[in-house]
Amino acid sequence: SRGCKLIGSGSAIPALQISNDDLSKIVDTSDEWISVRTGIHNRRVLSAKESLTNLAAEAARKALEMAQVDADDVDMVLMCSSTPEDLFGSAPQIQKALGCKGNPLAYDITAACSGFVLGLVSAACHIRGGGFNNVLVIGADSLSRYVDWTDRGTCILFGDAAGAVLVQSCDAEEDGLFAFDLHSDGDGQRHLKASIKESKIDHAVGTNGSILDFPPKPISYSCIEMNGKEVFRFACRCVPQSIESALGKAGLDGSNIDWLLLHQANQRIIDAVATRLEMPQERVISNLANYGNTSAASIPLALDEAVRSGKVKSGDVIATAGFGAGLTWGSAIISN
Ligand code: ACO
Repeated sequence: SRGCKLIGSGSAIPALQISNDDLSKIVDTSDEWISVRTGIHNRRVLSAKESLTNLAAEAARKALEMAQVDADDVDMVLMCSSTPEDLFGSAPQIQKALGCKGNPLAYDITAACSGFVLGLVSAACHIRGGGFNNVLVIGADSLSRYVDWTDRGTCILFGDAAGAVLVQSCDAEEDGLFAFDLHSDGDGQRHLKASIKESKIDHAVGTNGSILDFPPKPISYSCIEMNGKEVFRFACRCVPQSIESALGKAGLDGSNIDWLLLHQANQRIIDAVATRLEMPQERVISNLANYGNTSAASIPLALDEAVRSGKVKSGDVIATAGFGAGLTWGSAIISN
């Protein structure tokens, strides 16, 4: 039987940086409030002219470079994103930007801040059961485009970024995905959403002037609406449970884990989960002070930084978990 392992990572961030002080000029907030409640100091935001697809392709290119894998040898591209620049998906555009000559299968995975963990598990399933060999898993989001910049409860939290890993097939003995645990709960969607606008549907008009019952005019989406307290409680309750469940499946416990790498939403959530799992601070990866919550990009971005700085070394065991809109949450125990 086959296994899979992570052999390269890459990331990319937009140039434009917005500090807490910058935000305090737009909404009634302060650096102190944001820092204390979230741990966030800065975030990066795509300008109107920049493209998330390009940012994702840049992260993917860097991952291929580190993995020393040629774009032509990629046989699958998974774009984990809830903010694609085409409603039909962006993954084929990334495939095109990378110039993959092998015509790899490319598709999007929509699961907000859990997207990357779902992408990783999907890559492993395709490799183990589907005969794929080199799968690019990209997490990229631009929630800044869906934020209400007059809502201080949400606009302070989010940033834009892209991160990627190359997952490659290997012998089962070298397998680098020890176990995973995935969940969703549609009932909790009311706490965190960016849904189709519920305004009265405006009908299209036929060429002869008749009102068509159907189809409606093109619709648009509302900005992110969130009940922060509920999302906070959900994360602190479900994430430790999920990681414990994945550890149990792998026959491991906290003492086997070198690094805890959570979706970077709020430092207080990271601290609470680490405390529940009895993980000391020095084994917890955190970079959200610089980037805020970058949704599906946060885990591969933090992983890439930790690998490039020499913090995470080859063979280290990482417990990673994503959680967010859907609601969705899940964890994976991996080794790079
Ligand atoms: N600056 C100043 N004051 C603020 C701000 C702000 N930016 N935002 C809210 N406040 C005020 C509120 O109006 C409220 O005032 P009041 O007491 O007079 O009514 C007070 O601060 C407390 O507000 P809460 O919302 O109760 O603050 P809380 O401590 O819950 O912190 C926060 C809010 C930071 C959003 C927190 O709930 C949180 O981080 N939740 C998790 C959110 C999250 O991670 N979401 C992303 C999930 S991932 C995904 O899938 C997108």
